[in-house]
Amino acid sequence: MNPGEQKKALDAWETSARYWDKYRALIAQMFAPLTSGLVEEARIGIGQNVLDIGGGSGEPSLTISCIVGPTGSVMYTDPVAGMVETAQAEAGRRGLTNIQFRQCSVDDLPFPDKTFDLAIGRLSAMFFVDPVKAIREALRVVRNDGCASFAVWGPKEANPFFSTVNDVFDRFVESSTEDPDAPDAFRFAAPGKLAGILENAGAKNVIERQLNFQIEAAISFDQFWQLRTEMSETLREKMAGLAPAQLPTIKQAVADAARRYFVSGKMSFPAEALIVSGKKSAV
Ligand SMILES: C[S@@+](CC[C@H](N)C(=O)[O-])C[C@H]1O[C@@H](n2cnc3c(N)ncnc32)[C@H](O)[C@@H]1O
Repeated sequence: MNPGEQKKALDAWETSARYWDKYRALIAQMFAPLTSGLVEEARIGIGQNVLDIGGGSGEPSLTISCIVGPTGSVMYTDPVAGMVETAQAEAGRRGLTNIQFRQCSVDDLPFPDKTFDLAIGRLSAMFFVDPVKAIREALRVVRNDGCASFAVWGPKEANPFFSTVNDVFDRFVESSTEDPDAPDAFRFAAPGKLAGILENAGAKNVIERQLNFQIEAAISFDQFWQLRTEMSETLREKMAGLAPAQLPTIKQAVADAARRYFVSGKMSFPAEALIVSGKKSAV
């Protein structure tokens, strides 16, 4: 990724920030099993000092702040100003006092060596420009007995929350040729790929766990459609390139593909993620 592409990617997250804020309650609910998976895997508990990398609209920082309690702390980080603002505002509304906020990229964390007990990232590692450098940096700022854990999406086919929409759009709008190593939601879907990156970055005792869960919320198909087409930069771009007459056809095709995931006023998609963790040292 050259500097121009990097800037474009961060600008896209800046535009996304208002939608991630708009849907924060749904996001927290839908992806809560990923937070639980990280908390379990990294053994997060009372009194720990946790670094959250790429915290977006605030998760998992906001949840973890309650888990570590007043004797612990969370350092939320994200390179995108709009994300930091919305996450910080939410922490203020909730009266949380054990979270701090820093606008920074994982490539260059503004913290001394061994500052945190552990580092985590929920759905952010796939967007790191140089993942080996990023993981090295995450390990640098955790204690010698600390670890780094990342939650990333499994394969597209196992994640119809995304594929039911994306596959239909792909039929109507040409996609640019996909570089499997470019930042993308499914960049680390292949088993072993992110684990290999942690090992290259010097992590020890690397473990990869598959997490199967349901993405659930009491929303209609129309609400799902709006959420997906607003939150995703790729879909926003594709929508902008469509003739107005195409949109109802596409929406109907997605509705047909997604019908079985909407029953009795409730959305429930099966989902698959990987939780990949490594220790700073083999002690
Ligand atoms: C899919 S969102 C996930 C946000 C949040 N962790 C969640 O699970 O709801 C990805 C986040 O990664 C952040 N991100 C992108 N590039 C990054 C980088 N180089 N360093 C740290 N975070 C980055 C984005 O700004 C965005 O907030």
